Amino acid sequence: MELPPRPELFDFHGVSMITYFTDNWENVQNFQARPDDIVIATYPKAGTTWVSHMLDLLYFGKSSPERGSTMPISERVPFLEFTAPGQPSGQRDATISNGSVEAADKMPSSPRLIKTHLPVQFVPKSFWEQNCRIIYVARNAKDNVVSFFHFDRMNMGQPEPGDWPSFLQRFQEGKMVFGSWYDHVKGWWEKKQTNPKILYLMYEDLAEDRGRELDRVCSFLGLSLTEEERCKVIEGVGFDAMKKNSMTNYSTDKYMDFKISPFMRKGKVGDWKSHFTVSQNEQFDKEYQKKMTHTTLRFRTEI
Ligand code: A3P
Repeated sequence: MELPPRPELFDFHGVSMITYFTDNWENVQNFQARPDDIVIATYPKAGTTWVSHMLDLLYFGKSSPERGSTMPISERVPFLEFTAPGQPSGQRDATISNGSVEAADKMPSSPRLIKTHLPVQFVPKSFWEQNCRIIYVARNAKDNVVSFFHFDRMNMGQPEPGDWPSFLQRFQEGKMVFGSWYDHVKGWWEKKQTNPKILYLMYEDLAEDRGRELDRVCSFLGLSLTEEERCKVIEGVGFDAMKKNSMTNYSTDKYMDFKISPFMRKGKVGDWKSHFTVSQNEQFDKEYQKKMTHTTLRFRTEI
C-alpha cells in the first residue's frame, strides 16, 4: 500500500493538529453520546492502549473471550476524532478499521468504549450532557515525550519528528499533535475537580501496581470481579502479553514501521534517563516548574 506523505502540523483553535483529526470536525462535535458510553481520554502516548484493552477485557472478556485476540484494539475502542485522508469512515484500508464517528455510531456493543486524545475544551458536548464516565490517563512529561518521539519516528501518519533535541524543544513549545502536554494534563485535571464522572489515572501508578489500579477502575465503574476474572484481566494487560498480542501491538497497522521502533516499545517509568542529557534535563526542569506552578497536579518520573 502506498502511504500518503507525512502530515504537517497547523494551528487549530490554538492547538497544534494534523488534518487526520480535524477533517471530520463537525461530525465529531455533533457526536451523539449515550449515557453508558465510557470515554478513555489521554494525551498521546500516555497509556491509551493499555487502559483501552483493560476496559475491553473488563466489559467483554467474559461474554466474548475471543474478542481480545481477534479484533484490533482500534475496532474494539474507536478513536473518535480520527479520519484517514479521503476516507471519512476512518478505514485506513480494507483490513483495519480505525473507528471514528461512523464506526462508533454503528457499534452494537454496550457500553461503547471510545478513545479520544482531544484536549478537554474540544470534547463534544453530548458527552457532558449525557454525564458519561471518562477515564483520563496521564503520564509524566519526560517519559511521555520520549515515547512520542519514537512513535513519530515509526508512524508515517505523524509529522516528521526531526532529531531528538529539536523534538524535545517542540514538545516544550506545545508543537505536537494534540498540542501542549501541559495544557492537556492540566485542563483535564481542572475539569476533574468539579466533575465526579472523571477518573484521573497515572501511567506510573499503573506501572507500579496494575492490580491496585484495576480495582480503582472497577470501583469507579461499579464493577465487581471474581478473583479469577480479576487475575485474567491483570494477566491480559501485562506488557509482555500486550506486546505479543497482534490485536494490541498495532502490528496490523500499515502506517507503522516496526523496523524503526515497535509500538509496544519499553513500557517503563524512567526510560527518559537514557534519552535526556544532563543539560536537557536541567533546562526541561526549569521550564516545567514555570508551566506547572499554578496546579496541584503532581507526577512521578521514577517509581
Ligand atoms: P513506551 O513507548 O514508553 O514503551 P499509547 O497507547 O497512549 O499510545 O501509549 C503507548 C505507550 O504505552 C508505550 O510506551 C507503550 O509501550 C506503553 N504501554 C502500552 N501497554 C502497556 C502495558 N501493558 N504496560 C506498560 N506500558 C504499556
